[in-house]
Amino acid sequence: MDEPLLETKVVEAHEDAVRLAADLILSGELVAFPTETVYGLGGDATNPSSAAKIYSVKGRPVDNPLIVHVGSLEEACGVGVMTDLAEMLCMAFWPGPLTVVVPAREVIPREVRGGLDTVAVRCPSHPVALALISASGVPIAAPSANRSGRPSPTDASAVMEDLGGLIPLILDGGPCRVGLESTVVDATSDVPVILRHGGVTAQELRDVAGEVLTVGGEELKRRSPGTRHRHYAPSVPVFLWAGGPVDIGSLGGGMVGYVGLEEPPCGVSHAVRARDVREYARELFRSFREMERMGVSAILAQVPPKGDPMGDALFDRLFRASGGRTAG
Ligand code: TXA
Ligand code: MG
Repeated sequence: MDEPLLETKVVEAHEDAVRLAADLILSGELVAFPTETVYGLGGDATNPSSAAKIYSVKGRPVDNPLIVHVGSLEEACGVGVMTDLAEMLCMAFWPGPLTVVVPAREVIPREVRGGLDTVAVRCPSHPVALALISASGVPIAAPSANRSGRPSPTDASAVMEDLGGLIPLILDGGPCRVGLESTVVDATSDVPVILRHGGVTAQELRDVAGEVLTVGGEELKRRSPGTRHRHYAPSVPVFLWAGGPVDIGSLGGGMVGYVGLEEPPCGVSHAVRARDVREYARELFRSFREMERMGVSAILAQVPPKGDPMGDALFDRLFRASGGRTAG
């Protein structure tokens, strides 16, 4: 990135600010905005140069396609071919943290789709996101508003930390309710395939669709471009902890931070303890950034207990952030 630095304004997301944001988007600029999952970095999804800006500002590989945000199922039909399965899932979970992958329509340029014939579509439930989509009058392409590979931002200050100087405006709508990204489901055939666990759980999908498939390994990398790249990682190493004693001194030699549900092991300098898995998920990315700022040399993260519906999404983020490294 060698573009000149911009002045980034952080503005409370009142009506006037939303109008300003919509005008920026229509003129080809990018704006960060809150959704119920994480903050998004939004641009006009019908404008290839907006997509190019998104990739450049995030430092994102161009083969990792963007999610297109719409205000309703009807608007989704203008962006992609909504299969029977996609329609059923969207009627059950929209507005909300579900993204469906469907065959794309021409109006969405290939740049947005990372060159694929499909498009990922989501109708968020956050009132500011919906107001922005409505005021813009165009579908909004928005990845999470972090630099590529970093933890997703769950409040305006985290967006500022990563993208300050690179975008003109951040709409501040307070902290995100879910804190992890949407569930991405391939809905191009009759059976939903989970490509990324997230805010809608596998059990909730099963309750609506019956059978639900998950894929892993090479098959997942092929079908879900985002999984090919390193993700969600703070600048200090993360170690998974499944309970039991840990030699804290072996984890980098400085202060060690902890996130989890249970009492941390002895020797941890700073702990963020959640009351349940949903709170753990909501606070995870914020805690990572807080610990980075405190200057810890390692973060210990408790593996969530098996069986909790949000456990899959949380474990996925922890696994990627840690690269699978364990402690104890
Ligand atoms: O909660 C969310 O989904 C947030 C908010 C802002 O809506 N957005 C988000 O976007 O997490 P991003 O770009 O960080 O993640 C998009 C994911 C990536 O894993 C990407 O590979 C996948 O969606 N994706 C997008 N288009 C796809 C497609 N056509 N086929 C398969 N996967 C796709
Ligand atoms: Mg992301």
